Amino acid sequence: MKFNPFDYPLAWADPAMLSLNSDFVGHIPFVMGLVDLLRPGTVVELGTHTGNSYCAFCQAVRLRQMPTRCYAVDTWRGDASMGDYANGDAILAQLRAHHDPNYASFSTLLRMTFDEALPRFADGSIDLLHIDGCHTYEAVRHDFEAWLPKLSDRGVVLLHDTAERRAGFGVYRFWAEVAAKYPSLNFEHCHGLGMLLVGARPEPALQDFMQLAAAEPAAIQQFFAFQGLRVGKHQALDYSVAFGWHVQSLLNAWAAAHGKPVNPQCGTIQAAQADPISFFYNLYLSAQQALGNTSS
Ligand SMILES: C[S@@+](CC[C@H](N)C(=O)[O-])C[C@H]1O[C@@H](n2cnc3c(N)ncnc32)[C@H](O)[C@@H]1O
Repeated sequence: MKFNPFDYPLAWADPAMLSLNSDFVGHIPFVMGLVDLLRPGTVVELGTHTGNSYCAFCQAVRLRQMPTRCYAVDTWRGDASMGDYANGDAILAQLRAHHDPNYASFSTLLRMTFDEALPRFADGSIDLLHIDGCHTYEAVRHDFEAWLPKLSDRGVVLLHDTAERRAGFGVYRFWAEVAAKYPSLNFEHCHGLGMLLVGARPEPALQDFMQLAAAEPAAIQQFFAFQGLRVGKHQALDYSVAFGWHVQSLLNAWAAAHGKPVNPQCGTIQAAQADPISFFYNLYLSAQQALGNTSS
């Protein structure tokens, strides 16, 4: 068996939602491909914030029309690693605006602590658990040990930030302890993402993937890292257009206030995202006109 990138079609998908503040973006291709391989009955994420990782799980489930149930657990209040959120209600509202119309039929956002959510899940019921809460060693260890009994016999645990060595981040230390106890795979890019096959009877498709990852580690690391870079560029372009859009709005307001012609090329933000080169060229012309008029 040889590694073939076209065996992971969901890793090539464009995310339907990309929020700005997230260190997870570079792992979206892998987790979408993983959902496709594992076909989980139940997915739980501990730590969702703006939803980049969680919406990737949901998008994969929806694309494949799987009978999966997904749950996101977060207080949306922040933590010791992220700091306290001043605007947690707004973050959750923005996530809901994308999540509810697209995924509410199979997905539930649980606003509570991880410990409070535990009794909602039967032992052995979760096939895929993503732990991405507070990143201190003690917190990650607690979350892993508390939730491990909930994993099924084909269960998989993902840990984000396994490569992050900043002060206060201890996932790498915990990863060093658990990686040898289970079949495991660690991606070094984008702060690191570790995968543990904690169940006694792993999904055969995932076992095959692990064999490939052992036989051709460089090919698999590079493929998912490059796909992650692609998604990161997609995110950068979306947000460049969004910020450019604000600049265009300011210029239009200035032009209207000064009795100058407003840029007639300024359509919807979706149109700008579909054709960013034309959008930025027109923005450049607007700025040139405004600056030219100001200096005259
Ligand atoms: C690093 S962020 C999650 C990032 C997210 N997975 C992404 O894709 O960008 C961590 C989140 O975990 C939440 N959190 C941390 N510890 C928690 C706990 N014990 N109970 C509930 N939420 C918690 C925080 O509120 C924060 O939103």
